[in-house]
Amino acid sequence: MRIHVEDAADQALVAKYQESGQHHIFDDWEDLDSSQRRGLLDALQKIDLGFIQQLIRDHMVSDPDHPPIATPTPPPLISLEDPKRELAREKGLEAIRNGELAIMLLAGGVGTRLGHPGPKGSYPLLPVSQGTLFQLFAESLWKLQKEMGTTIPWWIMTSPSNHQETVQYFRDNNYHGLNSSDVIIEPQEELPVIDARRGRILRSGPGKILFSPDGHGGAIRLLQRNANWFRSRGIKHVYTHQVDNPLAILGDPEFLGLHLLDNSVFSSKAVAKTNPEEKVGVFCQTGEHLRVIEYSELGEEERHRRNDDGELSFRAGNVAMHMIDLEFILGDESGEIPALPMPFHMANKSVRHWYGSEWHESDSPNSVRFETFIFDVLSQAPHALVVEASRDLEFAPVKNSSGNDSPESSRAALQKLWAQWLIEAGIELDLDDQGQPKRTLEISPRLACNVAQLKKVLDQITIPDEGPILIR
Ligand code: UD1
Repeated sequence: MRIHVEDAADQALVAKYQESGQHHIFDDWEDLDSSQRRGLLDALQKIDLGFIQQLIRDHMVSDPDHPPIATPTPPPLISLEDPKRELAREKGLEAIRNGELAIMLLAGGVGTRLGHPGPKGSYPLLPVSQGTLFQLFAESLWKLQKEMGTTIPWWIMTSPSNHQETVQYFRDNNYHGLNSSDVIIEPQEELPVIDARRGRILRSGPGKILFSPDGHGGAIRLLQRNANWFRSRGIKHVYTHQVDNPLAILGDPEFLGLHLLDNSVFSSKAVAKTNPEEKVGVFCQTGEHLRVIEYSELGEEERHRRNDDGELSFRAGNVAMHMIDLEFILGDESGEIPALPMPFHMANKSVRHWYGSEWHESDSPNSVRFETFIFDVLSQAPHALVVEASRDLEFAPVKNSSGNDSPESSRAALQKLWAQWLIEAGIELDLDDQGQPKRTLEISPRLACNVAQLKKVLDQITIPDEGPILIR
């Protein structure tokens, strides 16, 4: 079909897409009004078509399977009992007090499994107040800043599709008590979604390209784009956490200290996998480097292999909390940013899309998204570290709408932990035989993020005689 546009640059753009086998994008051009046409041309302008065509060739045409992984071995691990932890904590605290730490929340995912309409962080997880995940994190950070007597910037990585809503959320909620200038919300980049069979760019409606965030590896590019910001503030380390885990200990000083003592450039927390089929990635050593092998990529034999003591050999489950040395990501004083190329992974998903002037839907995956993963920089890390964490204390993700890793299981884990703090602090509480409090319970992180902090504020706590217990 001949498309006529006034501007020579636009005409060249249209020709480029038509000649690359993406002419279907214009099949309803005649039905679009002038602003829809402009919107489409602007979206096409943003796409690096040569790069996308290369991704399609590399992943879909030539090698649809994962490349073989060199024989993995279990990684070395700082265990929960390691005596270095106490010293590490002091070292971490010192670095935080010196203003060397920033925290980054990865919140750019599409979060389809949970079925919550807004950004995942706006999910009302808290059992009594119905406060959100964003609120929980913001209040934990508020507490950490107060305890440390310093500012700790909080970067929130969104994606173009949830950015405005996230910004609006924080404005509407007065940043949950944080200084708005210390909360920097910035979107990651996005890439077009591709038809799984023919490698065509998909549309989300007439004249609209279907885009998807380019994976949480986008955080590395976001850091690099903002190199001057971090350098000018003397920030040396970034702690990253995922929006789905309310138990993440923001900026954990002990973790930072272990990272520093070990001269690691990329440290990660891991919890022991509960069973071979648990769907978490695991840390492995392949050759000189650490890497995360996703559940689906780990061979059957490795998944089930056990040590003499009966423990799973590959049990260091990735809980997606990382401490990253900024010099590794941003380079040294010379100002030259290291390349740090990351492989693209394909995610096959089913999407509703617009093609041939009608909607298409499928129960089976009909599209491909290209994503990079933050932990893939491990392959370029001169030295990396895995630190064991306790599942009960640090990992209760909200991923699915029900069952495992759901709001229900996550709330149960939070309440169990808060109940233990109260009991350890000397407050009486009735528990059931699973260790769960018999009454709904919530402790605001503004008051306490751990038992030591709770013990300091015991005089502010009154437990009502009946009903839900909200301690704030
Ligand atoms: C992830 C890890 C897995 C780990 C598990 C622990 C990957 C590929 N796998 O799995 O190894 O065991 O968490 O919970 O990461 N996000 C972005 N931008 C994106 C995509 C995702 O910011 O483009 C954010 C999401 O908002 C979320 C996090 O990254 O906070 C995790 O993404 P998700 O795709 O849900 O990872 P999982 O499959 O759960």
